[in-house]
Amino acid sequence: MKALREASSGRAIEVIDQTKLPFALQWVTLRTAEEVAHAIKTMVVRGAPLIGVTAAYGLAMNAGAYDLLKATRPTAVNLAWALDKVRTSRDLWAAAREIAASESEACRRIGDFGLPLLEKARRGDTLRVLTHCNAGWLATGDWGTALAPIYAAKAAGLKLHVWVDETRPRNQGGLTAWELGEAGVPHQLIVDNAGGLLMMRGEVDVCIVGADRIAANGDVCNKVGTYLKALAAKDNGIPFYVAAPESTIDATLASGAQIPIEERDGSEVRGWNGAKLFPDAVPVGNPAFDVTPARLVTAIITEKGVRT
Ligand code: MRU
Repeated sequence: MKALREASSGRAIEVIDQTKLPFALQWVTLRTAEEVAHAIKTMVVRGAPLIGVTAAYGLAMNAGAYDLLKATRPTAVNLAWALDKVRTSRDLWAAAREIAASESEACRRIGDFGLPLLEKARRGDTLRVLTHCNAGWLATGDWGTALAPIYAAKAAGLKLHVWVDETRPRNQGGLTAWELGEAGVPHQLIVDNAGGLLMMRGEVDVCIVGADRIAANGDVCNKVGTYLKALAAKDNGIPFYVAAPESTIDATLASGAQIPIEERDGSEVRGWNGAKLFPDAVPVGNPAFDVTPARLVTAIITEKGVRT
């Protein structure tokens, strides 16, 4: 499955509009760097690796759009990583294509490395996994990061059950549920606060999430709410894995405290998809990511192997 493809006509790309999922599967064409920047900012495309790949094509459309593209979202380091790779290439379009291919291959390998870890965590007949946000093929272009070992487990014939965090306020859990449904992986969508209870009851064997930036000390920045799941996993002796390509590692930052956390518009908390949940006058905060300290992470799975 692909979340981005090159358009057959000219130097343009087509992406799945993720703001329309899971209700409608619509592809949109992006022809200019400005359109690409807008799609990233408004989360038509989202997920750290896919943001990087999409921005890479945006720069290939207009070599002068580096700053515009880099400013779209601050937390996922894959964005700057991809832009820097394209900027220093001779053929920008070929470089973007190469990033798309290499990120896809990285995710496939993450699936291979992650599968034995999931198998090892299984306590009964069925492997019960909890995941947060969406770190599937929608977020990466192909395979996914956290979902890649789950897809590998499905392909290996393991009995599976995935607990899918809703992930307020943007409800990326709906994207994960949609992906898993398409793949025939048994799952249940749960509200963000249910995970602790399920872990305490022994209904979760293992947690696996993606990442937007990993600091040199192994602190992991991911979708807000990840930290609370890691705390609950630790308290209940449940392994907590992070799956990400090497492009998500920011070796320039000593610890997670230095990672910029995106603060998004309050309207995302006050409502969803046109529905009002709270009056406009209600003051809200909307930090989009949090940092899970390395001590709560059992291991990080990349395309190069498993780092503990
Ligand atoms: O705000 P989003 O939806 O772009 O955030 C996505 C996440 O936090 C994912 O978990 C992360 O990017 C990993 S995607 C493979």
